[in-house]
Amino acid sequence: GNYTGGLRPQVHFSPPQHFMNDPNGMFVDANNTWHLYYQYNPTGVVAGNQHWGHATSQDLYHWENQPIALFPPEKNVFVFSGSAVVDVNNTSGFFPDQDNGVVAITTLARYYDDGSAGPQTQGLAYSLDGGYTFEYYDGNPVIDSSSSQFRDPKVIWYEDHWVMVIAFAQEFVVGIYTSPNLINWTHASNFSHHGLLGAQYECPNMVKLPIRDSVGGAVVDEAYVIAVSVQPGAPLGGSITQYFPGTFNGTHFETFDSATRLTDFAKDNYAAQYFYGTPDGSNAINMGWASNWQYAQTVPTGNLEGWRSAMTLPRENYLTNATRIGWIMANELVDITPVLDTPLNTTTFEGNGSIAVDYSSVSSGTLYIEANVTGLNASTVTSASTLNISFTSPSSGETIRSGYYFGGDQPYFIDRGLVRGFDNIFFTDKFSTADVWNATSGSWRVQAVIDRSILEIFLEGGVHAATTLFFPKEPLTIMSLATAGLPAGVEVSVAVWSVQSAWA
Ligand code: FRU
Repeated sequence: GNYTGGLRPQVHFSPPQHFMNDPNGMFVDANNTWHLYYQYNPTGVVAGNQHWGHATSQDLYHWENQPIALFPPEKNVFVFSGSAVVDVNNTSGFFPDQDNGVVAITTLARYYDDGSAGPQTQGLAYSLDGGYTFEYYDGNPVIDSSSSQFRDPKVIWYEDHWVMVIAFAQEFVVGIYTSPNLINWTHASNFSHHGLLGAQYECPNMVKLPIRDSVGGAVVDEAYVIAVSVQPGAPLGGSITQYFPGTFNGTHFETFDSATRLTDFAKDNYAAQYFYGTPDGSNAINMGWASNWQYAQTVPTGNLEGWRSAMTLPRENYLTNATRIGWIMANELVDITPVLDTPLNTTTFEGNGSIAVDYSSVSSGTLYIEANVTGLNASTVTSASTLNISFTSPSSGETIRSGYYFGGDQPYFIDRGLVRGFDNIFFTDKFSTADVWNATSGSWRVQAVIDRSILEIFLEGGVHAATTLFFPKEPLTIMSLATAGLPAGVEVSVAVWSVQSAWA
């Protein structure tokens, strides 16, 4: 792959060329190598001809492309989204002589010659070499179906059995199945008609997460989350992912409350999947597809650079109910130090101030920024108290802006409407959060990664997160940060790092 294109992210994973969508089959092997598979069309820059592409990483930022892992098993049958597990105890019987056998559980989607959709059934493929090459199980399908809308199995281990969540997409049902051996599956329960329906449910995930007693606080318990992606029909247009915290007893899931919560406050994070078998045993790390079906197949990277779509940066999740709205799932950015250079700028000031950083000499074009604001509380904040961060192209004038209105009830915004875009795409949207944290805590924190054509924002250590695409005609090379309306005594500390290309 050629990763030099001006729109190519340098620390977000993108495929060597052609079209990528959902992350699939994510697991961590016994050598702590992270495996990412993905929906891949190796012959075009639009969706179709689904294979599983494959890449591996030691740190979740540097990726090595691997040969395609799953090919269509027969003509007109495509390999849709699914998951993978390490069958350490050989429950499947595929691995008599090893404890590192990998089983992929995936949807086999049949199409007829006239292009109409046939049944979606669930099949297995197993790998004797740690996830690099796979053979299809000759007893497929392991879950048969006549429905053309039954897909995206995600399997986890629960105490003494395997558990699968899977979408009966257009019935708005997440089916929960159990199995002793990955081959024989029993339907155990349904989780249906929760939250946003959109036109269909896709790519359900279930995961056990730690509960912290406050944002960033101590782990006091654990609970489950079901995440469901919907498309089209998301509130911001196209596709989006929602989640439901609750309890799971091995067969049935129940939500803690009746609210619908979204993983992101922008619209370019879909179908995120959790890695199976993380080194710390938490399984709490996910990556999503950093795009939206509304425009994924028309974004300008296809025609200009021959690739479409990247993944989000890796995120670690936990639950807490110590917020104004009760339960949230925090998205913490996984330690980014493996790709950080020394800081370009570190500045601390009181009250109002500004910095500007010309990063035109940073060859990756990629920055990581952290700003911490302390000492601002309910008695000092006003509606004019702001912190703005922008990235600008001095030659084209294109800008992506974001920032805090500390006194507002939608305290953080992102505006990608000032990037001119290309002929076939011109975003006009602005995004903003509702304040679920609280303005009285006196402590605000923004982390941002700007990576050529993707901006990711994490607020208050992950209370809010957003992933946003933008496609500038000229590279954005000036970063500025400015505060206004802040009283003396409020401390603003900013650090800006250049980020090394993970592909150079
Ligand atoms: C979600 C999705 C899945 C399906 C896959 C096909 O983006 O539609 O439901 O398995 O993409 O590529």
